[in-house]
Amino acid sequence: MTQAPGLPAALAHPFSPAGRLDPYPAYDWLRGHRPVYRDPMTGLWLVTGYADCTALLKDPAFSAAAGQRERAREDDLPVSMLTTDGTGHARLRAPGALLLGPAALASVAGAIAADADALLDRAAARGRLEDAVEQLGAPLATAVLGRLFGLPEEQWDTLGALGRAVSLNLDPMAPPPVASLGRAAMGELTRYLDGHLDTAPPSPLARLAADPRLTRQEVLGVLGLAVVGGWQPLAESVGNALYWLLPRPEVRAALRGAGPEEAGTLMDELLRLEAPIPFTARVTVRAAELPGGRIPAGQRVLAVLAAANRDPAVFARPAELLPSRRPNPHLAFGAGPHFCLAARLVRETGALLLARIVRRFPAAALAGPGARWAPTLIPRRLTGLAVDLGAPAPVAARSAAVTGRA
Ligand code: HEM
Repeated sequence: MTQAPGLPAALAHPFSPAGRLDPYPAYDWLRGHRPVYRDPMTGLWLVTGYADCTALLKDPAFSAAAGQRERAREDDLPVSMLTTDGTGHARLRAPGALLLGPAALASVAGAIAADADALLDRAAARGRLEDAVEQLGAPLATAVLGRLFGLPEEQWDTLGALGRAVSLNLDPMAPPPVASLGRAAMGELTRYLDGHLDTAPPSPLARLAADPRLTRQEVLGVLGLAVVGGWQPLAESVGNALYWLLPRPEVRAALRGAGPEEAGTLMDELLRLEAPIPFTARVTVRAAELPGGRIPAGQRVLAVLAAANRDPAVFARPAELLPSRRPNPHLAFGAGPHFCLAARLVRETGALLLARIVRRFPAAALAGPGARWAPTLIPRRLTGLAVDLGAPAPVAARSAAVTGRA
């Protein structure tokens, strides 16, 4: 493949300070002109087309294990699903379903719905959220992990603090001092979870820990990955979703009357538009042929999920929120063997929370222009997302939220 010219000078590089806040113009150009592009600034290959990203994520020539090792080479962290490929990966993933599969989800769904209601009770007492991610998204993410792990509520503050600390590991371009803090936090999280394994009450975690297919270290690896890969993306997905949802009265109105399936369809669309994990890393273990171009062996590659999610070849009116978009084969959860094991959990939890918010607070609106995209690369996230909740609906009008319909 001939060397690609750089991005047009008028476009901010997606990893530059301006591009981090709004990477979509550069992604659009790359997808249209160079869907498989070797970026001279970083040496990384950026894959932005939908067909190319899906092919890449399913092709064993692109190693997730090598992709992760590349960014965490000084780690001695336990192995996990994202640090393995092929049969080693499948061996870990099958028991991982004990933690995150449908039965695990069913066992905690009622408690999570009650946790969401309790968070909204607290929000109602204040009438306003100064920061919807801090006051709703983060505590909800902690509650979800707390329920899956069977942790008593008095330990949730510790879990939330650890979740926040290990999230430093998400950003692949974090400067070395930050990366080193992230690694230290990961060690602390692993020790904390290790101390909990033998005494965990009946819970998805306890079922995983009792599974004879995994060693103790492997169990800890799966749990650690759930915290690193799950806590902050789930927390931030709430902010990203509210940012798109609240300014659209017609979408809020439709969600008020929606059942779980329609609410889930909307959640998918919100995840497509603002994927909290905008890209994921791989390394080519041999030369690979994608629809949009060839990548030699030994290259570091990013599947840019956020760019693929707005590919006009797959999604009509790709930059718009179409709440009933179906099918919606977005890549916010990845694709192929590493497809997010918690996709259903995230979709259902998000749908449940959003439906409750619009039913309980029909006039909820973004408050002021304070929300800003943070300059972090992963996750894509907002800071200062203030929400004015407005007058709560009479209890009878929101009974659907209380009975847990969506
Ligand atoms: C909005 C929230 C979330 C998003 C956008 C998301 C996205 C993703 C993506 C894109 C991948 C694939 C990574 C790759 O191919 O390199 C992935 C994998 C994974 N996610 Fe999620 N995730 C979310 C929440 C969660 C949560 C809450 C958990 C657990 C509690 C979780 C657990 C996992 C695991 C275990 C994997 C690895 C699966 C494997 O390698 O086989 N995720 N996630």
